[in-house]
Formats: sequence, structure tokens, C-alpha cells
Amino acid sequence: MVDLSVKIGSLTLKNPVLTASGTFGYGREYDPYLDISQLGGIVTKTVTLEPRQGNPMPRIAETPAGMLNSIGLSNVGVEKYLNEKLPLLADVDTNVIANVAGNTIDEYAEIVSRLQHHPRIDAIEINVSCPNVEKGGLAFGTDASVTAAVVKGVRNQTGKPVIVKLTPNVTDIGVIARAAEDSGADAVSCINTVQGMGVNIHTRQPLLARIIGGLSGPAIKPIALAKVYQAAQAVRIPVIGLGGIMGWADAVEFLIAGATAVQTGTLNFIEPAGPVQLIQGLESYCITHNISRIADIIGSLEKRPVK
Ligand code: SIN
Repeated sequence: MVDLSVKIGSLTLKNPVLTASGTFGYGREYDPYLDISQLGGIVTKTVTLEPRQGNPMPRIAETPAGMLNSIGLSNVGVEKYLNEKLPLLADVDTNVIANVAGNTIDEYAEIVSRLQHHPRIDAIEINVSCPNVEKGGLAFGTDASVTAAVVKGVRNQTGKPVIVKLTPNVTDIGVIARAAEDSGADAVSCINTVQGMGVNIHTRQPLLARIIGGLSGPAIKPIALAKVYQAAQAVRIPVIGLGGIMGWADAVEFLIAGATAVQTGTLNFIEPAGPVQLIQGLESYCITHNISRIADIIGSLEKRPVK
């Protein structure tokens, strides 16, 4: 038997596999494909104070090794999230992490104050990294002092674990991760999408209506690994790794680079049962390598000998 459990602050995950916000709906949409109770947890679609339509279409485009999105945080708003979406998860035997975004620092705090008493929410992930909105999102997460203010505002509202989802679109992710840690975050997740665009050469139009969006999928895995490594070197709190994880071996790389847990995103669109296959693969890897606790490989990157 392999112990696959890991800890994110006071939160215990039965295994290190979470599904990323915005790629797994509100959870139950994936019932036909997998038993969501087998996951370490699910991160639900970003919720905002008011419902949002999102950005104009087209807002998704395929790229050779991933996808571009410019959804614009389309969601039902906090009221419906509490009253209609969370009750659907009442009997699910896994952690539910609510992902939250606001237009202002006060809005982040207000949403969290509304969510924080709900018994079905086990932790809160703060989205300061969406590249597809005018206010909040990336504009907040690229500035350490604004990130710190958002985290403080949220921290004052809740005792539940607070995870801060960071953008790779910065010079030094360690600086932003440290600002989150110093302001009371329990963990950071790295990374949200990398800014990108595509052009249709026949129409000369951008692939996305909003021109620039966020790139995810295998193309960004090496970027994500480097950011996870840098963040893990910079902070003592756990780092959750995501970005192009398509199979268990990718997840192992993230754990060795310093991630305590991982999230799958683009994988969920391509192979909806993929996250559960990933858990099975992690267990087999541990058995093959005589590892009794998966937590033992976190941050276990070896130095290469100098020649
Ligand atoms: C979006 O809704 O535009 C994507 C979510 C994100 O990048 O955080």
C-alpha cells in the first residue's frame, strides 16, 4: 500500500491530484467520465460577485501543443454558486476548493465572506492571474503589493486554507509567491496560463475575439515546472503545480521539482478520465520505486554532478 496523501496547510488530500479551475465545471459535469470522489479534490470554476457572460466568441482556439482561451470568467455568480452549484456536491467524498475572483480588492474579500461559512467549501483559491479580464486578474497578480493586499483582505474573512493562484507572466514568480506567503496565504498554485495569441493567415484575423488569451497544455509544461521550482525555492508554504500535466510522469516531475500537489486542466478536456488514471499511475510509480509515501518525493530534485 502506498500512502498518496499530502497536506496543503490544514487540508489533507487523499492523493495529490486536483482538477484545475475552469476546466472541470462545478464538478458534477464529469460524473459520466469518472468517480470524482477518487480525486484529491476539485477546484470549481472561478466565481465572481455577480454573474458574468464572459468574453465574445471565439474564445477558445487549438494550438499545435495546447489551447488558447479567453473565456473571461463566465460564471453564475456567488449567489447561484452557493444555492445551486455547491449543494450538488453534498455527497462527494473529496475536497472542494472554491476559486474566487473580484474586480477590486474589496470584492475578493466580500465573496470570501459569503463563501466562508459554507460547510462544503474546504479551501479557497484566489485567482489573481486570469489574463482575460479588464479588472483584477493578471493586473493584480503581477504586482506583489496588490497581491499582498488581496490576500490580506481575504485572510481577514476566513480561517479556511487560502491558496493563491499565480501567473507565470512575471519576471520573478518567487517575489509574488513570497508576498502571498507573508500576507497569510497557506499555499500558492503555479501556474495560470501563459499569455499567447494566434492569427488566421487567410482572414488575417486573430483566432480569439479578444486577440490575446491564455495558453495551456503541453506547450507550457517546461515553463510551469520552472515556475513551480522557483516558487518552491522562495516560500515555505506548499506549492501546487499545474500547466500541461497530461499524464502521471508529468505529475511526478512537478512533485520532484517542489510541488506538493498538482492540478490537471487541459487534460480534462482531452481525456476526462485522465485525472483518475494519473492517480493510478502515481501509485504504480511509487511501487516501482519502493516509495511508501508519495510526500517523500516532494522537492527531491537531485543536483547533477559537476563535470
Ligand atoms: C478565463 O475565464 O478567462 C480563464 C480563467 C483564468 O485564466 O483564470
